[in-house]
Amino acid sequence: MKRNFKTIVVTGGAGFIGSNFIRYLFGKAGFEGRIVNLDALSYAGNLESLADVAEALGGRRYFFERADICDRAAVGRIFKDYAPDAVVHLAAESHVDRSILGPEAFVRTNVMGTFALLEAARAAWQGRSDVLFHHVSTDEVFGSLGDSGYFNEETPYDPRSPYSASKAGSDHLVRAYHHTYGLPATLSNCSNNYGPYQFPEKLIPLMILNMLEGKSLPVYGDGKNIRDWIYVEDHNSAVWEIMERGEAGRSYAVGGENEWENLRLLGRLIEIVAEETGEGKDRFLSLIAYVKDRPGHDRRYAIDCSRIKEELGWKRESSFDEGLRKTVRWYLGNRKWCENVRTGEYRNWLERNYARR
Ligand code: NAD
Ligand code: DAU
Repeated sequence: MKRNFKTIVVTGGAGFIGSNFIRYLFGKAGFEGRIVNLDALSYAGNLESLADVAEALGGRRYFFERADICDRAAVGRIFKDYAPDAVVHLAAESHVDRSILGPEAFVRTNVMGTFALLEAARAAWQGRSDVLFHHVSTDEVFGSLGDSGYFNEETPYDPRSPYSASKAGSDHLVRAYHHTYGLPATLSNCSNNYGPYQFPEKLIPLMILNMLEGKSLPVYGDGKNIRDWIYVEDHNSAVWEIMERGEAGRSYAVGGENEWENLRLLGRLIEIVAEETGEGKDRFLSLIAYVKDRPGHDRRYAIDCSRIKEELGWKRESSFDEGLRKTVRWYLGNRKWCENVRTGEYRNWLERNYARR
């Protein structure tokens, strides 16, 4: 059975994955209902990433609500005003390094914020079965792998950073609300995303922009940590597949089946940036700098995503090479967005444009 939603609240819709998700729903997915973007606009939230959507559909099918998910009164009011029949919960503190420097914001937003949203959904939906709370989570809740093996939905939780521990806490709360109160909920645990509109503190956009600006390319530790990379649109098609047809109470592991050592990935990225800019790659190679390792740095992530492929028929569209090239071209073609984000100018852009929502 395929669910058919009328009004979807997307929390964290001004972030990297959220803004791509909203664009995906109105575009490729052909969603015909309304979307409410609920976002506090933390340093990682940027309405400039959705300027085209706001221009085309704002006030009719796209609405922006600036609110903190921890603010129960505000979240309750949004549920009342829009009567959503689905929530896609992406709002989070999402960067591992920041969680090491300041874990409190992670516990607050990721644990308490998820709790506040669940309470609002429980109060508003009162036992309805035609609604859905989809929780977007990470493969990092499963810990770190050695040279072999894969994470799947049965892997025991073993989070090791404040970020992953707070995401694990939120996963447990979502499952508890399903089991205890019957809240229709699904979960996804995805591997590393990359693509347009990603805040340049994460590996791929940071390296692209540093190359373009002639800055050093910081490689943590020995550079041999492994991540499984997925193009953001492929993650978003998985989330949408789960929302439309996934079984309530079920989790789905999502990944790119695409493992890369950081250093090897950087080598490929350098080749692509060199090809796309016409610069020699030696200049970029000379920027590589080995730096102190991230404390508690997880060694390897890899996902076995058989369940979502077999049960829901989901499949990825972008190969890594295509995805990386599209990403590099996007950053090259959107220098103003990058510059605004790097300088904090997008905050002024926000002030100038906020009234137009
Ligand atoms: P992001 O940091 O780019 O965006 C997070 C968004 O949440 C921002 O728009 C921010 O303003 C908003 N936000 C933060 N605190 C808030 C609060 N208290 N109230 C309301 N809004 C708030 O993150 P992302 O990379 O787009 O990740 C989105 C979600 O996907 C997160 O839950 C993350 O754990 C999960 N995830 C990310 C990846 C990845 O590789 N990026 C992989 C798997 C899962
Ligand atoms: O696995 C999913 C997770 O992927 C998401 O849940 C997180 O929200 C997302 O941030 C990401 O976490 P990582 O810590 O894996 O991503 P990050 O881009 O920070 O780092 C990727 C790898 O690159 C990791 O091994 C650390 C390394 N790294 C990162 C940065 C920023 C470097 O070597 N140098 C850097 O400057």
